[in-house]
Amino acid sequence: MSRKKILVTGGAGFIGGNFVQYMVKKYPAYDIYNLDFLTYAGDLTKHSEIEELENYYFLKADIADRDSIATLFKELKFDFVVHFAAESHVDRSITDPGIFVQTNVVGTQVLLDAAKQYGITKFVHVSTDEVYGDLEFDPTTFFTEVTPLQPNSPYSASKASSDLLVRAYHETFGLPMNITRCSNNYGPYHFPEKLIPLTISRVLNDQSVPVYGDGKNIRDWLHVLDHCSAIDLVMHEGVNGEVYNVGGHNERTNLEVVKAIIETLGKSEELIEYVTDRLGHDKRYAIDPTKLEQLGWNPTYTFETGIAQTIQWYIENKEWWEKIISGEYQTCFEKQYYK
Ligand code: NAD
Ligand code: TYD
Repeated sequence: MSRKKILVTGGAGFIGGNFVQYMVKKYPAYDIYNLDFLTYAGDLTKHSEIEELENYYFLKADIADRDSIATLFKELKFDFVVHFAAESHVDRSITDPGIFVQTNVVGTQVLLDAAKQYGITKFVHVSTDEVYGDLEFDPTTFFTEVTPLQPNSPYSASKASSDLLVRAYHETFGLPMNITRCSNNYGPYHFPEKLIPLTISRVLNDQSVPVYGDGKNIRDWLHVLDHCSAIDLVMHEGVNGEVYNVGGHNERTNLEVVKAIIETLGKSEELIEYVTDRLGHDKRYAIDPTKLEQLGWNPTYTFETGIAQTIQWYIENKEWWEKIISGEYQTCFEKQYYK
């Protein structure tokens, strides 16, 4: 049996990076191609332990570069595409929406064209629950796969647009695909501009933690390794053309998350600094994962075990995040919160 070739786009980022490491180790008989343009969010040092492995390859390319992508698909003949590459930070999409359309919409369409032209077994499109818009603070309501798409931020609008293109290539051209929509991820190698790694890194450095508005917005937290196992399952067992929501019923207010981290690290809640609310700030996200559970998925982390593991990882890997909290990112952070 010939070796399977898996193209993972965005494999130098947070979730894609964890997925590449998970796949390289779990499937020695698969060749894993990490394609990434290495934007501010891409970092290859996280792969130092796997870069010498025979089943790992890195390709530097922009997913929106039609010629490069076509050449790679033609030469390498991928079996699966697992598409993570994106601009992913809501706050950045509020200050500069254009790159979100370019990468998330145009980039996805370029990949779809190449997949259609050169043929693949399946295209797994990694999307977000944010495409559904937001929910009221009513704990009995959840996003299901048939909730209408009502994105509120330029980020979620660009992701919803890419979801619709993936659906259209399936309906129109018969491209085999699945779309996954997951809740907020957290875990090792999370870029410290997002709430959890930002809070851990700032609390460890005795710096204030910016909480938007009153801190009562709710997110549904998913450990990144539970997300990786979900994508693995969907890639192999997902019914062609279906959408699967991924989430583990771990709803917390932002304030609960920040306070849990401060308490675990034995620091003072005086570090909390309430700052101006995000424009169009979504109130609540909450996933109903029944469909994926019926396919056979179960998360292994609770929020308590996952956050403890994540905090420990940030304590042990200070070098990694300190390197990132410098330069371009630091300037952007200060411009955003402390103008
Ligand atoms: P990330 O920002 O950490 O990583 C994105 C990666 O994509 C980076 O390595 C970056 O260099 C790469 N990239 C950006 N533009 C590119 C381009 N033009 N060509 C090639 N590579 C490019 O993002 P993440 O948090 O790992 O998210 C991965 C995917 O999961 C995204 O599609 C995101 O929408 C989705 N998602 C994330 C979350 C979350 O909580 N982080 C939740 C739901 C869905
Ligand atoms: P974030 O990690 O940016 O993810 P998303 O916007 O995709 O949900 O934010 C998670 C929540 O935390 C969101 O409600 C905004 C809030 N937040 C803060 O209160 N302070 C911060 O510094 C950041 C980055 C986010």
